[in-house]
Amino acid sequence: MKSPELEYYERIAPKYDELHAQPIQLYHTKVESELIQPYLYEGQKVAVIGCGGGREFEYLLKKQIILVGVDFSRGMLDKAKEKIQKLAKHFSDRKLLSYVSLIQADAANLPFGDSEFDLVFCLASLNYFPNYEKSLLEMNRVVKPGGKVIVTVINRWELSAFVKRIPSVLKIFKGGGGKKTSSVFRKTFTMKEMKELYRKAGLNVCRVEGIRLFLDFIPQAWNTRQEYFSKAQKAIQILSMLDQALLKLRFCKLCARFLMLVGEKPYGC
Ligand SMILES: C[S@@+](CC[C@H](N)C(=O)[O-])C[C@H]1O[C@@H](n2cnc3c(N)ncnc32)[C@H](O)[C@@H]1O
Repeated sequence: MKSPELEYYERIAPKYDELHAQPIQLYHTKVESELIQPYLYEGQKVAVIGCGGGREFEYLLKKQIILVGVDFSRGMLDKAKEKIQKLAKHFSDRKLLSYVSLIQADAANLPFGDSEFDLVFCLASLNYFPNYEKSLLEMNRVVKPGGKVIVTVINRWELSAFVKRIPSVLKIFKGGGGKKTSSVFRKTFTMKEMKELYRKAGLNVCRVEGIRLFLDFIPQAWNTRQEYFSKAQKAIQILSMLDQALLKLRFCKLCARFLMLVGEKPYGC
């Protein structure tokens, strides 16, 4: 029997590409790609855990790496396969298809041997893994000593969510109802919690970054309805300058929408 989580991801998989073509998500992928580039080298063996429909593949495959995408949803992996085929056409490189494999597996039980990968990514997915601690342990197990584990997560202390929540908190004081929550597992993390999770998994944190500070103040309709996309793009141009300047400060990183942690597996493990 499928878990409610798996049922949910199978249901939303057909909409994956549409969701990631929205202006804020496109900007997010661009920033994430810039932060990740320094860790990519040709010939590396790289695992992407919770790869979904392969949003990250576009920039990862610009380098000739051996890529293994892992997700527990068959529907998501079908989307990722379509993506790879499109990219192979786009780069006019049929060989690309032989550099990539897609594996259906639970992040908490990875079907790989110890120290198989040079680099492990888990981007925008750890928040949705019920066994997130075990999953991070698994990422540490499959990466080589000296290899990096790079994770991005939705931040519990994100500024935009806090400001947007003020009206509903006020409503609760006035006796109004709150927001109906989904039955699917989703946990946000603070920077402190993430550092602690890395430490428990046996990884040394070497870098922490924040992604998106003011962008999520853009009205939702601008980001979701095509007729407003040009407005969203203009707002992103302006707000991203503020984001880039302020996200250099530690205090601002603490309240970004996403946190990125780069950890290294120590030698001798
Ligand atoms: C929010 S999506 C992110 C996908 C992709 N990394 C991205 O940034 O577009 C989360 C993904 O995690 C996958 N997922 C959730 N729980 C999982 C688990 N326990 N094991 C493996 N994959 C899982 C879902 O199927 C989904 O594709």
